[in-house]
Amino acid sequence: MERTLILVKPDGVQRGLIGEIVSRFERRGLKLAGMKFMQMSRELAEQHYGIHKGRPFYDALVDYITSGPIVAMAWEGKEAIAAARATMGATNPVSAAPGTIRGDFGMEIGRNLVHGSDSVENGVKEVSLFFKEEELVAWDRVTDSWIRE
Ligand code: RTP
Ligand code: MG
Repeated sequence: MERTLILVKPDGVQRGLIGEIVSRFERRGLKLAGMKFMQMSRELAEQHYGIHKGRPFYDALVDYITSGPIVAMAWEGKEAIAAARATMGATNPVSAAPGTIRGDFGMEIGRNLVHGSDSVENGVKEVSLFFKEEELVAWDRVTDSWIRE
């Protein structure tokens, strides 16, 4: 069972798209394990996007992700990483397929609405950066047998 960290980035919050974005993951069949509305500190942003330090877009990326509140979520399930990334669409919204979050709502790479972990290993790391273990909820979903064989 995989876990992915999904963020509704500040543009998603400011544009009133929290519900729309959460709904895409919920309807897909991913299972919510944790959720919080928060403001990211610069320190947390630098930890979260540390892999991009030194790249030309890094400072703008840290400014962007700390520019307003975000929604942080942990979603889980078999193949959660790949399913969530497919639901998000390509990093640059102009190349993202219609029907994906970025393809339906975005126009530029620097305002691409959502974050999702890119590997199983990073999913574990990123979820633990945003959530304490006791903030994650294990629950039985009555529809599970209609989502998975
Ligand atoms: P994310 O980490 O936010 O889920 O996005 P991603 O995996 O699809 O893309 P990644 O390569 O990890 O890039 C992280 C975020 O940095 C911004 N970016 N800007 N101006 C640029 O060339 C550029 N490249 C990346 C985007 O906000 C991207 O989501
Ligand atoms: Mg990434």
